[in-house]
Amino acid sequence: MQITKEHRHLTLKQIDAQETYKVRLPVLRPGRPIEDCEFNNDSHIDTFHLGLYFNADLIGVVTFMKTNNEAFPESKQYQLRGMAILQDYQGLKYGDILVEAGDSLVKERQGILIWLNAREIAVKFYERNGFTISGNPFNIPSVGTHYMMYKTI
Ligand SMILES: CC(C)(COP(=O)(O)OP(=O)(O)OC[C@H]1O[C@@H](n2cnc3c(N)ncnc32)[C@H](O)[C@@H]1OP(=O)(O)O)[C@@H](O)C(=O)NCCC(=O)NCCS
Repeated sequence: MQITKEHRHLTLKQIDAQETYKVRLPVLRPGRPIEDCEFNNDSHIDTFHLGLYFNADLIGVVTFMKTNNEAFPESKQYQLRGMAILQDYQGLKYGDILVEAGDSLVKERQGILIWLNAREIAVKFYERNGFTISGNPFNIPSVGTHYMMYKTI
């Protein structure tokens, strides 16, 4: 996949679900058992995972699942899940690279809408990446307040 010059240490690859656990665990499930990193449909044929490497190290992951949300009339929807950048690499806009690459791959698969459940702290990040809040905030037990967000592509 294409990486711009200013990101010359970075490589983006499609990876297996299990590879994502290396970043999901410390960032999204700290202190929990590795089994808690698995999402339903992680290995579904329509699911894809992206990994961002800094030199040889996996530092960021994101997952896209072909899942329709009744809130939206569009037929070919993808859900963005498990967006995570290792703490030492957060705040450097590396997340944008994963979102942009995901958008292109969803388009290639004829997807027309991407939606997600955003943690409150990530809402601004997603807004900057073209997502809009839909509806009211809601609580996910033991994770906190979330907002459903979407964009058409
Ligand atoms: C949310 C996340 C994917 C964004 O990726 P990123 O590459 O860090 O994105 P950005 O560099 O654009 O930073 C996003 C915001 O977080 C702030 N930030 C996050 N972590 C930071 C850190 N360790 N140091 C400095 N700033 C940080 C940035 O200042 C920025 O704020 P702004 O939007 O007001 O400018 C990443 O920070 C992350 O993995 N966070 C923890 C897991 C998480 O919340 N995932 C989302 C689940 S819905």
